[in-house]
Amino acid sequence: MLEGPKNPSDKEFSKVLDFLNKSLRKDCSWSIDKEYPTALNLNNRHNMNIVWDDQNIVSHAVLKPLIIKSPHVIYKLGAIGSVVTDENYRNQGWSTKIIQKCNQLALEQSCDVTILWTNLYEFYQKMGFELAGYEMSFVIDKDFSYDRTLFRYSSEKNISPEAIAKLYSQHTVSTVRTIEEIRKFIQIPNTHLYTAWNSQGNLAAYAVEGKGIDLQNYIHEWGGSVPAIVNLLGYIKDQKPSGFTFISPKTSVNLNSKLIELSTISNVGYLGMIKIINFDQLSQKIKKAFRNLGVSDIVLEKHADYYLFGCGQDLCTLQKESELVQLLFGPVEFSELNVFQTNTIEKLKLILPLPFWVWGWDSI
Ligand SMILES: CC(C)(COP(=O)(O)OP(=O)(O)OC[C@H]1O[C@@H](n2cnc3c(N)ncnc32)[C@H](O)[C@@H]1OP(=O)(O)O)[C@@H](O)C(=O)NCCC(=O)NCCS
Repeated sequence: MLEGPKNPSDKEFSKVLDFLNKSLRKDCSWSIDKEYPTALNLNNRHNMNIVWDDQNIVSHAVLKPLIIKSPHVIYKLGAIGSVVTDENYRNQGWSTKIIQKCNQLALEQSCDVTILWTNLYEFYQKMGFELAGYEMSFVIDKDFSYDRTLFRYSSEKNISPEAIAKLYSQHTVSTVRTIEEIRKFIQIPNTHLYTAWNSQGNLAAYAVEGKGIDLQNYIHEWGGSVPAIVNLLGYIKDQKPSGFTFISPKTSVNLNSKLIELSTISNVGYLGMIKIINFDQLSQKIKKAFRNLGVSDIVLEKHADYYLFGCGQDLCTLQKESELVQLLFGPVEFSELNVFQTNTIEKLKLILPLPFWVWGWDSI
């Protein structure tokens, strides 16, 4: 008999991993929980959702709540991952039900939005997710000169998580992480950690490539000053002569402008598929952020069949939540709407699009 979605018990946890390894990691020498050590973890069992048919698990998805600090807003984000249904049970609505359960759990745990990474856009759009946010990517495949003496470079993985945490804490937008979590991330299979050390022996920059079967040849995590990172990229290019792709948030303005010079291709993509989970909570946070900057007439309201958005009397109506998501998180620009006056656009731009980013180690 089919039952679920429900959470696995302590005893069932290893069965969930067996199902995920069989379904998603057939040819891997490691277990999938090594790739997602904080999401596929007994401590997060209450956010793992499964469907059973008698003795067998036939469908799964996990939610990982994350706290993201940004200049104006502290978000609670629910990241959803490891979505899979056994081949013999597909097209019966199980993943739809499990994703809805993840969204429900996200609401119960005070998340503002949920996010997932996929290429099944229409499948998730039906469930209210929309492609939104920004991801800058830069293909670095030509040699460039870098200072070989200013730093000592290394591809040794045995680095203190405290040193990484120190650089990581300087990011404009970042997930709150413990030292223990960073220690686990460093050990993810198929990740390469590159570091640059200054003459005092302090970590000046780090960069991470690969994550399990994903993000091969992508630098998805990094930290340090712009000159230290750029020099480190020169060293990585020496180690990987065929090149790599560097991904970064839109907020890394100085680094991104330097990378445009160094890359052969640069692209602005979406961060992921985002769904608003608690509109009232998110709109309160946004309005408070505007008030803190002296803008007190922001209107962001949900009505029965439309959203009202703007400043004072200069308002627009949006029919769909997906339109609002792309305005709040990007990539739709206010000027593209052709509805707001210039002074309204200037005010909205103080905070919007919201600086928002999930570092590679946190993506599930
Ligand atoms: C993608 C995947 C998770 C979907 O799982 P699923 O349980 O079949 O999903 P659902 O049944 O909820 O929905 C699948 C389709 O069936 C349709 N459907 C939903 N309920 C249905 C029902 N009761 N009867 C018939 N069809 C139904 C859905 O509308 C959807 O149609 P679409 O593909 O045109 O959007 C599954 O195909 C899978 O495991 N793929 C391999 C792993 C993977 O790609 N994971 C996604 C990573 S993001």
